[in-house]
Amino acid sequence: MRLDKMISNLGIATRSEIKKIIRAGRVKVNGVVVSDASIHIKDDDTVLLDDEEIQSKNYIYLLMDKPVNVITAMEDKRLQCVGDFLSPELKAKKVSPVGRLDYHTTGLLIITNDGEFSHRMTSPKYHLPKTYLVTYSGNRLTNKQVEEASSGMTLHDTDEVIKLKPSVLELGEDNGDYHTCKLTLTEGKTHQVRRMISSWNCEVIELRRISIGSLFIDDIPEDDNNIYPIRELDFSEINQLKLELKMND
Ligand code: URA
Repeated sequence: MRLDKMISNLGIATRSEIKKIIRAGRVKVNGVVVSDASIHIKDDDTVLLDDEEIQSKNYIYLLMDKPVNVITAMEDKRLQCVGDFLSPELKAKKVSPVGRLDYHTTGLLIITNDGEFSHRMTSPKYHLPKTYLVTYSGNRLTNKQVEEASSGMTLHDTDEVIKLKPSVLELGEDNGDYHTCKLTLTEGKTHQVRRMISSWNCEVIELRRISIGSLFIDDIPEDDNNIYPIRELDFSEINQLKLELKMND
C-alpha cells in the first residue's frame, strides 16, 4: 500500500497534510527518513511518525457487519462462516473473530490477530459494554423489566441458575406485532440476550449488535476492493479500544 494511503487510513491527517508531513521529514520507514509519499509499504515495514510507531508490524483489526445465517468461525464444512468473507491475504495473517455472535445475530464483530487484545475483549475482567438492538414479539416490555435488568436478574432456564450482572434495557418502538429495545450487557453468557428476552415471555425476531465500547457499527462502504461488509479499524478507533481495555497503561 502507498505510504500516504496507509497514513490516511489511520485517520490522523488529511491527504494534503500527510504530503506536507512526509516532505518535512517527520516519517521514517524501517528507520530511514522518507520524502516520497508514493512509496509502497509492506505489512512488516515499521513506520514511525515523529518517532512514534504508527504501523504495528503484524497486527490487523477488522470490523465486520456480520450477516445473518453465518457462523462465527473461520472454517466450517457445512455452513457459511465468517472466514468465507475474508481474502486469502487476510486469512494468511491468522486473524480470528473476537468472541462470537449467534448464527442468526447480525452486526458488529471484530476480527484480529492481536491475541492480547482479543483476550481482553472477551475476559470478564475488562468486559466492555456491548449494545444489542432487539426486535421482539410478545407483550411490550415495561419499566418492570427495565428495573429487573438493572438490578441483575437471574436465569432459571437450565439446570444451572445464573445470576446476571446488571444490564441496561432501553424501551424502543411499538410497531404493533413487533417491538424494539436496546440491551447493553457487560458480560457474555451463552445466548444471553435471547434468554433474557424469553424469560420475559417474549421472542427475539431480530438481533443486531450495534456497539462494543466506543465502537459503533457504521455503514461500511462497498467498492470493488471491499465487496463484503468488512473494513479495517483506523488508528484512533484501535487506540481508543485499547485505552478502554487498559492496554496502554
Ligand atoms: N446474545 C445472544 O443471545 N446472541 C448473540 O449473538 C449475542 C448476544
